[in-house]
Amino acid sequence: MPTALITGANRGLGLEFTRQYAAEGWQVLACCRRPAEADALNAVAQRSSGKVRVLALDVADLNAIDALAKTLQDTAIDLVINNAGIYPDHHSDFGKTDYEAWMQAFRINTMAPLKVAEAFVPHLERGAGKLIATVSSKMGSLDDNTSGGCYLYRSSKTAVNMVMKSLSLDLAARGIRAVILHPGWVQTDMGGPNALINAEQSVSGMRRVLANVTSEQSGHFFSYDGKEIPW
Ligand SMILES: NC(=O)c1ccc[n+]([C@@H]2O[C@H](COP(=O)([O-])OP(=O)(O)OC[C@H]3O[C@@H](n4cnc5c(N)ncnc54)[C@H](OP(=O)(O)O)[C@@H]3O)[C@@H](O)[C@H]2O)c1
Repeated sequence: MPTALITGANRGLGLEFTRQYAAEGWQVLACCRRPAEADALNAVAQRSSGKVRVLALDVADLNAIDALAKTLQDTAIDLVINNAGIYPDHHSDFGKTDYEAWMQAFRINTMAPLKVAEAFVPHLERGAGKLIATVSSKMGSLDDNTSGGCYLYRSSKTAVNMVMKSLSLDLAARGIRAVILHPGWVQTDMGGPNALINAEQSVSGMRRVLANVTSEQSGHFFSYDGKEIPW
């Protein structure tokens, strides 16, 4: 069965990705910042008959990404999901911009996904799936921005979209595809209770997109329901 590496796997969409891929029989390298405190993820791992391996990874620590890639150097990986993300705009309206929070958002939402790709390309080359998925957001779409604000989050996601577009072109010769996903507005800690869909619906949809993505669609930006999102 294929192997997926997922960041931010301890809650929200990352936990649901882990659940669903493991239920389908995949091996899952489930990365999270603090494995000892990841109760829900550890429970999924315990029920998985060895399919889910919980690994420590704080994606803000770019050296730790390299270190994990080295630890896993003999492992073939079919799918890497850059899922970990933060929403830093809670206290950052225009006039009160928190520039430190903005830099941290770029580190986690924008730079870490590229660093993960750089570190894990050798593992992806060994796997058959050859796919990198980055969970971005429609809030990073320039076209979709009709309400303004959210400078920090929006710009970090717009930037990661561009990063992944370039990556898709750079990795095409190696047969590796890179796609960008919008999960919908989802009931997680980030999305809140009023969100329109639950994690099960969002992740089922994104998995369907990933299962069907072609080489020609590498570098494209898809919603969980399969629709393409304008930049
Ligand atoms: N929910 C939505 O409506 C929505 C909409 C559009 C896009 N998204 C995107 O979907 C992705 C997942 O979001 P979610 O809704 O599942 O959010 P969430 O419930 O807040 O979960 C965020 C996950 O990211 C992890 N994370 C944050 N910083 C990290 C770091 N430095 N290193 C490793 N992991 C880190 C968190 O781990 P800790 O528990 O350790 O903090 C947690 O596992 C994000 O990229 C988000 O931007 C979500």
